[in-house]
Amino acid sequence: ENDILDKLPLKGKKVLITAGPTYEAIDPVRFIGNHSSGKMGFAIAKSAANLGAEVFLISGPSHQQEQHSSIKRIDVVSAEDMYKAAHQYFNDVDVAILSAAVADYKPKNVANQKIKKKESSLTIELAPTKDILASLGEIKKHQLLVGFALETNNEIENAKGKLKRKNLDLIVLNSLQDKGAGFATNTNKITIIDKNLNEKPFELKSKVDVAEDIINEIVLRIKS
Ligand code: CTP
Ligand code: CA
Repeated sequence: ENDILDKLPLKGKKVLITAGPTYEAIDPVRFIGNHSSGKMGFAIAKSAANLGAEVFLISGPSHQQEQHSSIKRIDVVSAEDMYKAAHQYFNDVDVAILSAAVADYKPKNVANQKIKKKESSLTIELAPTKDILASLGEIKKHQLLVGFALETNNEIENAKGKLKRKNLDLIVLNSLQDKGAGFATNTNKITIIDKNLNEKPFELKSKVDVAEDIINEIVLRIKS
């Protein structure tokens, strides 16, 4: 009987995951976006579902496809949409993993009509988006809250700063310094840091294997 429980350690658990980029509208035909593919978040969703979790996968625009009957996909476009969806599900989940590459800024005003080109230069004023992860950190109760940090320099220090500032239980540091890690690739090099600031570095691996490492760390923390 214990064997079966060990094989599905997330049975009965609900997991919220954000994935992919967000698109911030400039006018009806243009947006500000980024190169996030959604691969990492979708792989995490699959790993969690494989271990028995009921998964709510809130995804920005992505060509990825969810591959499990226990994954409910919620499609969003902008940071504001993702914020609303995340808050809608957060109270009801046991774990939230925010892997989305959310835009930090959006156009302050969205033009109603397509902006026409002129000879002169064009300036678009940007306003900050809401930080979804930080907002969940402020209201979290029983939930295990996991964030990502994408860094190019002072990686560990910056990641620890985000962990503290956003009131997280775990942060997954994504190293862009290594070739083969990051947005368009199939591999990632991560270090997982917990709230006691213990650092656990992992080898460069496929995103599918990285997802399993992340979910395994979460399983350990849910049990204890
Ligand atoms: N995040 C979020 N909402 C935002 C911005 C970021 O939920 N508006 C989350 C990301 O999904 C990730 C974590 O915050 O889990 C860190 O994102 P990152 O871009 O590395 O950090 P920022 O806090 O945005 O700071 P900066 O981009 O300046 O490094
Ligand atoms: Ca950011």
